[in-house]
Amino acid sequence: MRLPTLQLALRPGILELRWGHPDPALLPASALARAAARTLADQPGDSLGYGHPAGPGALLEWLMARLGQTDGRAPAPDEILITGGISLGLELVLAACAGPGDVVLVESPTYHLAPRIMRDRALQLVAVPADEQGLNVTALAEIAHALRRAGRVARALYLVPTFNNPTGRTLSGERRAALVSLAAEEGLLIIEDDVYRELAYDAPAAPSLWSLAPPGAVARLGAFSKTLAPGLRLGWLTAGRGLVTRLVEGGLLDSGGGINHFTAMVVGALCTAGDFDPHVASLRTALRERRDALLAALDQHLPPGCVVERPGGGFFVWVQLPPGLDSAALLRQAEASGVSYLPGATFHTDPRGAGALRLAFSLYPPPALAEAARRLGAALGI
Ligand SMILES: Cc1ncc(COP(=O)(O)O)c(C=O)c1O
Repeated sequence: MRLPTLQLALRPGILELRWGHPDPALLPASALARAAARTLADQPGDSLGYGHPAGPGALLEWLMARLGQTDGRAPAPDEILITGGISLGLELVLAACAGPGDVVLVESPTYHLAPRIMRDRALQLVAVPADEQGLNVTALAEIAHALRRAGRVARALYLVPTFNNPTGRTLSGERRAALVSLAAEEGLLIIEDDVYRELAYDAPAAPSLWSLAPPGAVARLGAFSKTLAPGLRLGWLTAGRGLVTRLVEGGLLDSGGGINHFTAMVVGALCTAGDFDPHVASLRTALRERRDALLAALDQHLPPGCVVERPGGGFFVWVQLPPGLDSAALLRQAEASGVSYLPGATFHTDPRGAGALRLAFSLYPPPALAEAARRLGAALGI
C-alpha cells in the first residue's frame, strides 16, 4: 500500500476546479533549491537551531519593508510574528482570544475551512451577510447589537476583505472605514485573512483593515501559501503589540522556538536575494491570463441567466446560476461531463448559497480552463 503525499487527489477524466491548489508548473522550485543550498552552506547553525520566537530577523525585516510597499503601513518589530500559514495563524489568534462557547462572527459566504478551525475550538459561529461590496457593515452592527441585547458579546469577526474566497470581491473603501470604526466602538477584534494581497491582477490591493485601524483592533493573517507554495506552511501575523507579545512569550514558542524556523530561514534567503519579486510578477501574469481565459470561456459557454463575477485578484470565479437551479444538485451532472466545482452552499455557515458555485483557476493553464468552461456549460445547459 502506498500512502498519499498530497491532499489533492485528481480523478481521471475530471477537470478539478474545486480546489485552490497551485499548478506545479508555477511553483518556485529552483529559487527555493538555491535559497536552501545557500542557507545550509552559509548559516548551518543558525538555520538548524531553535529559532528566535517571533521568526528569523532577516525574514521579519524583509516582510516589514514589503508590507510598507504593498499595504497602507509597515508593522513595527513588535507587531509581527512568523506563523505556519493562515490556518495556524488563525488557530493561534483564536486560542489567544476566544474560548469554548464564545461567539465569533463570520462573513458569509466565507473561506469554508476557517469555520472548521473555529468549530474545532467549540466556538459559536454567527453569519454576517456580504454583497458585491463585501461585508454588510450595517447588518454587522445590527447583529452585534442583537447579541448584546441577548447578553452575548462577539469576541471576533473573521473575514477575507481583499479578493475574497469564494467570491473574488473586495470590501469597498467606504465599508473598510465603517467596519474599522464599528469594531473599535464594539471592542470587536477583526481577524483579517489577507492571503491574496499580492495576487492583484488589475490594480494594487486596497490597504488592509490592519493598516487602517487603530493599533490592536485587527489581527491580519498573511502567508506565502499562494505566492510561493502552500507546502512551505509559512505565513505571518500583524497585530497589536499586546497580542503579538502574548504569542511570542507564550509556552508554545518558548518551548519550540520560532515556527517552521528552517523554512523561514530559506524563504528569508529567497526574498533577500531578490527572487520573490520576479517570481510573484510572473505568477501574477500567469494567473491573470488564466482568469481571463476562464472568464472568456464562461461568457461563451454558460447558458443565459448565469451571472459571472470578475475577480480583481485571488484564485476564484463566483458564478450565480439562473433562479431555481441548485449547484449541489447539478454537481453530479457536471462531473459526468468532466468538470467539478464547489457548490455555493459550502461557503455559508447557514443554509444559503444553493444558487451559486465557485470555480478555481489556479491549477490549470488556459486551454484546460476553456475546456472546463465548455463542459460546465454543457452540464448546465441540459
Ligand atoms: C482565504 C483563505 N485563507 C486561508 C487559506 C489557507 O491558507 P494556508 O495554506 O496559509 O493555511 C486559503 C486557501 O485556500 C484561503 O483561500
